[in-house]
Amino acid sequence: MPKWRCTVCNYIHEGETPPDKCPVCGVGPEKFVRVSDDEAAGAAGEPETLEEARDRCREKLRGICAVYPRCDGDKNSICQREAYGKPIGLGGVGSGLSFQANVAALAKVELRTRVVGPHFDADTQLTFLGRKLSMPILGASTSGVSKYNDAISEDDFCRACVEGCKEAGTMTLRGDTFFYTVKENPALDAIEAAGGWGIPIFKPRAQDALKELIERAEKTGCPAVGVDLDGCGSSNFARAGKPVYRKTIEDMKELVGFTELPFIFKGIMDADDAEACVAAGAKVVAVSNHGGRVLDGTPGVADVLPGIVDRVDGSALVTADGGVRTGYDVLKLLGLGATAVLIGRDVIRAAIGGGSKGVELQMNRLGSVLRKGMLMTGCKDLASIDRRILD
Ligand SMILES: Cc1cc2nc3c(=O)[nH]c(=O)nc-3n(C[C@H](O)[C@H](O)[C@H](O)COP(=O)(O)O)c2cc1C
Repeated sequence: MPKWRCTVCNYIHEGETPPDKCPVCGVGPEKFVRVSDDEAAGAAGEPETLEEARDRCREKLRGICAVYPRCDGDKNSICQREAYGKPIGLGGVGSGLSFQANVAALAKVELRTRVVGPHFDADTQLTFLGRKLSMPILGASTSGVSKYNDAISEDDFCRACVEGCKEAGTMTLRGDTFFYTVKENPALDAIEAAGGWGIPIFKPRAQDALKELIERAEKTGCPAVGVDLDGCGSSNFARAGKPVYRKTIEDMKELVGFTELPFIFKGIMDADDAEACVAAGAKVVAVSNHGGRVLDGTPGVADVLPGIVDRVDGSALVTADGGVRTGYDVLKLLGLGATAVLIGRDVIRAAIGGGSKGVELQMNRLGSVLRKGMLMTGCKDLASIDRRILD
């Protein structure tokens, strides 16, 4: 069957004639050129640009995520169907208010332009949990992506996130979902294959199950482990009939004491909860509403972050995630006191559309825009970023 490549977005069409309209970018048949099988396979190889990776993802996630230029959980987006009984996909829970709140809260934060002073090239390097990273931007803990149109296998997804972040000089957290077990665990396999370059975050399963997972994680050489405490509200575990639990401070202490590795508690949106994490011995408090996927109607992360940073007061590192789409968004959360910022949906889309190369392109784009933002706000390194850069 003849193959045709869209010269705008690289979509490959099979048929006797080009399509009337490109299903990805919408251009007409005149934009299609006939290509050989080898050329068609090449177009599906590594993407050259982030835009190409995103275009390919749009095609693969048809009906699930339209890879909109603005990903904000708007109720008219195709991902927002959980309220009507559809799987959550890449959307937010319920009517998507918490997802929307993340983006809206970031939009309210304003950056102060400060351009007088000596020139510099902004330095974004940091040491995080003992690892030297090129930027304070990490992949978030995500999982279960193989369930979306079978666009990518879970193994390839985890490897793409781990390796793509590593290529960009940074690291990713890895998530946990109902079909991961101690033996069959794509997240831990990918971290192990990369020489311990990644941080597993487990769902709040039963204590014994968590201990088994932590023991296996220790063997991968990872620099830390963690639990997303807000995973007790996971729609996917609920749909699969798998138990996840709220955790008491005693449970948390037991887990922290079980391993020598630094411990992360993720899913914190309240200063009292943050204080409990510190009291339990957490090294990192990860401020997050799970991308708006566990409780409808929360504030945005940028709204609650300063209060949590103030309460933690340096007793633990604080990360933040939710609605971060650009390096400027990263800069805002750093300005509000985060040590590092995690990227969820955009890394998922990059991995589906472009594998590890897509993720590398995504992280490098975020890093270069962060450097530009630092130049424009007068921050030569991460230590110079504080609330004074915010208006
Ligand atoms: C499809 C999907 C799967 C996710 N899986 C997990 C998970 O397994 N564990 C976890 O801690 N968080 C999970 N999250 C939440 C992310 O770690 C992160 O908090 C969120 O995606 C950040 O918001 P953003 O997607 O707007 O960047 C998931 C998010 C998405 C979109």
